[in-house]
Amino acid sequence: MSQQLEVHFVAASAAPQGALILLAGADFTLGATAKGYDERTKGMLTRAAHAAEFKAKGKGAIEVLAPAGLDVPRIVVAGAASVSKELDRLLLGGYLYAQAAARKGEAATILAELADAGGTSQETLAVDLALGALLRSYSFKKYRTKKPEEGAEADAAPARDGLSRLVIATAKPEAAAKSFAARKAIVDGVFLARDLVNEPANALGPVEFADRLAQLREAGLEVDVFDETQLAEMKMGALLGVAQGSVRPARVVVMQWHGAKSKRAKPVCFVGKGVVFDTGGISMKPAAGMEDMKGDMGGAACVAGLMLALAGRKAAVNAVGLVGLVENMPSGNAQRPGDIVTSMSGQTIEVLNTDAEGRLVLADVMWYAQERFKPRFLIDLATLTGAIIVALGKEYAGLFSNDDKLADELSDAGEATGEKVWRMPLGKAYDKMIDSKNADMKNIGGRNGGAITAAQFLQRFIKDTPWAHLDVAGTAMDSVKSDINQGWASGWGVRLLDRLVADHYEKPEK
Ligand code: BES
Ligand code: MN
Ligand code: ZN
Repeated sequence: MSQQLEVHFVAASAAPQGALILLAGADFTLGATAKGYDERTKGMLTRAAHAAEFKAKGKGAIEVLAPAGLDVPRIVVAGAASVSKELDRLLLGGYLYAQAAARKGEAATILAELADAGGTSQETLAVDLALGALLRSYSFKKYRTKKPEEGAEADAAPARDGLSRLVIATAKPEAAAKSFAARKAIVDGVFLARDLVNEPANALGPVEFADRLAQLREAGLEVDVFDETQLAEMKMGALLGVAQGSVRPARVVVMQWHGAKSKRAKPVCFVGKGVVFDTGGISMKPAAGMEDMKGDMGGAACVAGLMLALAGRKAAVNAVGLVGLVENMPSGNAQRPGDIVTSMSGQTIEVLNTDAEGRLVLADVMWYAQERFKPRFLIDLATLTGAIIVALGKEYAGLFSNDDKLADELSDAGEATGEKVWRMPLGKAYDKMIDSKNADMKNIGGRNGGAITAAQFLQRFIKDTPWAHLDVAGTAMDSVKSDINQGWASGWGVRLLDRLVADHYEKPEK
């Protein structure tokens, strides 16, 4: 992440800094302060809207340059007809940020005011616009040493053209600033996840990843890092089989947040696949597009970001996040197709394809998580299969679960946050597809239903814990662009799971 966007809250009546951005409801209705600006410019805004036939019905904006009678370089009026849902407000905030950033100036002011905001309070409107703007402002430029020239290709241009300060003018600036400070923790979590996924694998091996997570102690998390000797003592044979081809040793990291009233209350539990780079191993992947496999730790990145968010906003819950960090490489010491490994659970696995490695890593970490923590639920996140992208594209993550309540809660949180999940089937017939002649199971199930047989494999390592598996291969990286995400790494899942916890798990267990 580069220099973060500064956000300030000021009174609605304060003199604007930089470009002034106003909101209009349907049919170009303006709030009281915005009307005042219109009057001071002798109705210039209303006339401009007429001239442009701008009705502020959907997404869109008009611009007035150097308005007479006002000391601002430009006014942008954006349509804000629907702000009743949190997601609408975040997306609008992101859009407004882009409107400001596309123009000159290092500061811009958004007047968070509408004549009729439905049931939404001024404070909520201001805070959500700010959060959306902040999410949109992210860019990964740490390896760029040169400024692109004026008029350079879009790819070479910086995401932010000097806009470094965003002022939100609102009726209740103090209250908004306070609530923003608490909810900004979620953005910090999203940015951490995006940073980790964007980072190239030469800079982020299992050890470096674990070191980054150890730094989260500063945020109030308890963090344990297990090295390869300890993992061998713990009998994580499936995970270590994947790691053995790389010169960079494996790590497993356990992050704990104790936020519930009782320290002993059962935790909610999240497990992430952290393959820092997936070459496929001896069953090697083709060259084209292999660079994307630096993002094969997107599940682990999300778990890290979520734990940071929960700690940052002092969530009233006990939560534990675990990540299995390995590199999948071909080498003279790599695992071979046909090798049989013994997982921590005692179950044996015939490794028929070394590219189906994520499930091997998760099998041991999920088993350990249940043995040690006896969690209320376990949710794993993994960039697990290309097959889930074939099935769902990039709009939805695949959801697999043994628990209807947990699955429904996740679906609802997905609709609310825009990080959507689609439930896929599990069942005996699919489970049979991973039976092996030579061991308790094999790590691939054949061509058909590839995302499902991967989930069935994981389920063999779930005891009677309520469990959900999210296959995020299509959503964590190379993601669909939106008004709050323009990057390759989306940070997908942090907002979803934070919402799940906030809505259902921050009260004592019944
Ligand atoms: N990391 C990949 C899955 C993946 C593919 C993630 C594309 C993101 C984008 C995973 O380890 C993998 O290689 N899966 C194989 C499984 C197969 C060998 C059974 C796949 O999907 O092809
Ligand atoms: Mn693979
Ligand atoms: Zn993988």
